[in-house]
Amino acid sequence: MNTLDTIKKRRSIRSFTTQNIEKEKIETLLQSAMYAPSAVNKQPWHFIVIDNREIMEQIMKIHPNSKMFETATLGILVCGDLQMQHGNGYWLADCGAATQNILLAAAAMDLGSCWVGVFPREDRMKAFKELFSLPAHVEAFALVALGYPAEEKKTPQRYRPESVFLNKWGNS
Ligand SMILES: Cc1cc2nc3c(=O)[nH]c(=O)nc-3n(C[C@H](O)[C@H](O)[C@H](O)COP(=O)(O)O)c2cc1C
Repeated sequence: MNTLDTIKKRRSIRSFTTQNIEKEKIETLLQSAMYAPSAVNKQPWHFIVIDNREIMEQIMKIHPNSKMFETATLGILVCGDLQMQHGNGYWLADCGAATQNILLAAAAMDLGSCWVGVFPREDRMKAFKELFSLPAHVEAFALVALGYPAEEKKTPQRYRPESVFLNKWGNS
């Protein structure tokens, strides 16, 4: 599958089969995350791979929109390192790019994935920080739920020409 097809194919998948993700695929997901662009190439990220059901149960208790962990076989918590970042909150853009790379790599390998937002909700960031024993200078950014998809989703029509301007706001 080429990159453009993968971008369009990716959808949030919230129902998964019991098939586990192979080790090599997990490594590819992490490699893809770490090939993301980052400000001044600081790569201010860390990843916690979650394959423990008890921890998934805990996640569902602290995050109201994470029910897909009833069937997800894997999670990857994307964390930002405030000491490694370029400064001024660049870690957010960097971690966003890394998270998106995980989603696209998953789609390219016929895995299902869903971005579960943590930042900017302070209560969720705090709860994840506690659950995963993150150090003070590391923040939870987003959680990605993963597995082999048990649902199929079509590619929607999303292109909105009215959101595109030429050279200046308002010029179509
Ligand atoms: C920052 C962010 C936070 C999100 N948080 C959640 C979430 O907590 N739970 C969830 O089920 N989906 C979450 N999503 C997935 C969105 O609901 C989904 O991307 C959107 O509805 C578009 O659908 P698609 O991903 O299938 O294209 C989040 C997505 C983003 C980018």
